[in-house]
Amino acid sequence: MLILGIDTSCDDTSASVLENRKILSNIVSSQIKIHSKYGGVVPEIASRKHIEWIWDVTEKALTVAEKSLDSIDLVAVCHGPGLIGSLLVGVCFAKALSYASGKPIVGVNHLEGHIHAIFLEESYPQFPFLTLIVSGGHTCLYRVDDIGSYKELGKTRDDAVGEAYDKVAKMLGIGYPGGPAIERLAIEGDPEKFNLPRPYLPKNLDFSFSGLKTAVKVLLKNLGFNDGSVSHEIKKHISASFQTSVIDVLIEKIKWAVNAENLPKVVITGGVAANTELRRRAITLKDEGIDVYFPSKALCTDNAAMIAVAGYHRFLKGESSDFFLNARAYLPL
Ligand code: KG4
Ligand code: ZN
Repeated sequence: MLILGIDTSCDDTSASVLENRKILSNIVSSQIKIHSKYGGVVPEIASRKHIEWIWDVTEKALTVAEKSLDSIDLVAVCHGPGLIGSLLVGVCFAKALSYASGKPIVGVNHLEGHIHAIFLEESYPQFPFLTLIVSGGHTCLYRVDDIGSYKELGKTRDDAVGEAYDKVAKMLGIGYPGGPAIERLAIEGDPEKFNLPRPYLPKNLDFSFSGLKTAVKVLLKNLGFNDGSVSHEIKKHISASFQTSVIDVLIEKIKWAVNAENLPKVVITGGVAANTELRRRAITLKDEGIDVYFPSKALCTDNAAMIAVAGYHRFLKGESSDFFLNARAYLPL
């Protein structure tokens, strides 16, 4: 079965062709250069760029896969959660393709896409398992019992992890997106130079990262950097301290969730899961009997292959959408 996946939930325009679970193409056209000068995604610009790029990106996905639109059996599109204008472009485009080609369409939740990214890999866990989604918009823990069966165990009460990375990077003046920029600087820094808080929220699987972000702000002020001109020395030590604090919390919460559910199997996914230090630390959980799975880095950040595989699994269960399928900024899993 050939599946065409489309994701336009935020600032990446992406289309992918799968043959069942095998990736034939996965094109991601990033708008980072356009948004970086604003220090974050500008929703209005993002939707306009999606309109400009969506056809070219889809054509490229078909060309790289060496498939024609006629040969596609299913269109899978992300319909939420995300930026409403951005989502609308993907949803309208996918519905038009489905209508014109007479092929079925299935709407996919973006978070379900992130979870299903693991099924694009050769090695993936059998159900049930736990999953930690860490991205720019979400930080949440789920128990996954089957396709479509997700129990929320905890989520962030304020900032998502990726959002905290992006905001701290903005304070340090090191650009957008903040995750990769902080990761690079942290390699050179001393994580013990500054003692930043670990927001554990005792006896709880929720998260909170806004206090940590504020702690960085206060630290910068106390160090005398009020005008954004932070020295390289300070940037690298704050990056290392911030990142270590974040990862300490994520690793600890994974252990708590494993104990609470008595389920030592965890998939870590979403943009922040591309972080090398998080991957290194999480793999050491094996010593405590916890099996950890990561999608490859390119499949952790937003991409349409993850939407296609989630749509494929939904379709195999007999589900599909109709032309009333709509974009939703808020769409719980
Ligand atoms: O999943 P994603 O591509 O988009 C959303 O669904 O939000 O995640 C983007 C987020 C951004 O906040 C970005 O800073 C963060 O993931 N990110 C990283 C890394 N690569 C991307 N955070 C930490 N380390 C990275 N290497
Ligand atoms: Zn995402």
